[in-house]
Amino acid sequence: GKGQYDHFMLKEIHTQPTSLQKTIEGRIDADEHVTDLDVDLDLTDIDTVHLVGCGTSYHAALFGSSILNRCDVSARAIRASEYDVNTGTPPENTLFVAVTQSGETADTLQALRQASDVGASTLAVTNVVQSTAAREADEPLYIRAGPEIGVAATKTFSSQAVMLTMLSQHIARVNETATRVNNVGQLLSDLRALPSAVDRILQSSDAAGLAQEHLDKNAYFFIGRGLGCSVAKEGALKFKEITYEHAEGFASGELKHGPLALVTERTPVFAVCADDCDKTVTNAKEAQTRGAPIVAVSPPSHKIVDTADAHLSVPDMHPVCSNLLANVQLQLLSYYCATELDRAIDKPRNLAKSVTVE
Ligand code: M6R
Repeated sequence: GKGQYDHFMLKEIHTQPTSLQKTIEGRIDADEHVTDLDVDLDLTDIDTVHLVGCGTSYHAALFGSSILNRCDVSARAIRASEYDVNTGTPPENTLFVAVTQSGETADTLQALRQASDVGASTLAVTNVVQSTAAREADEPLYIRAGPEIGVAATKTFSSQAVMLTMLSQHIARVNETATRVNNVGQLLSDLRALPSAVDRILQSSDAAGLAQEHLDKNAYFFIGRGLGCSVAKEGALKFKEITYEHAEGFASGELKHGPLALVTERTPVFAVCADDCDKTVTNAKEAQTRGAPIVAVSPPSHKIVDTADAHLSVPDMHPVCSNLLANVQLQLLSYYCATELDRAIDKPRNLAKSVTVE
């Protein structure tokens, strides 16, 4: 049941300290600075990685592809529904990673079969043991987040992103051409500290108060760079899914190439700045000049805080962790806006938890 919570979504947001703990359990060797994934697949000669999923899982795939690219591993996040038209035959030595909470999403399974048919090595990053994706891939990588009831994916996004981060460091270690991510020691020790950092966000977040001030606007924009761009996209998807308000998430630098035409004092801009993002500060200022209220989602010391009209705080950790904590703040923001608007949070209109048609 929902226990003390009004909705499964809120319960699942609050479960993240535990679910993340399960995701990383036994998989990070802090002394040796390595991730230890039980993958019985030869990844030494992998030339390229295709990370494929839909919706929130696609955003986790984008997050994972950014980290792999930082390790000099060629990687692409691809929307599962676009795989057949936009990918062509996967090159030799492709690792295909299906990212799917349920393991039953039709578009993702179709892409998985397409890649298997041409001989790609395949992994399924999934939450459901013995799901179709888990069975059909060469190897399952279980995120162990526990059952997710709310249609809006929350804890599974965090666990998928962490799983893909650990996979990236596994590939970086065994692959011949890959390099480890910068400051891998800090990354791995911060990942181990992530569950308690999430707990502190849950205790101290200002998202509920902020939600009150941001109801009834024309549109909601979420911007970020790099890892922050996937968080911005995920923030916008969650927001539109449960509030039914128009929201868009995109790379900060894209603002001036079109969306700026929509920016007014009635379009708040949420700027995810949990990484090196001086450019996001400039982009946010451009929106502010047109009257948009700016909400910084960043460490307290980040310079965007000086310009922002409001602030959702995250600790200054490795960018992987700070960005995932920014996402938790945005989950709470969406949740509290949706409750103020009295929406059907756990079962938003027109949506299903598992999309088994193409
Ligand atoms: O089960 P999957 O991860 O394959 O599901 C993919 C999407 O349908 C899912 O992430 C959807 O976008 C979420 N409901 C968003 O919160």
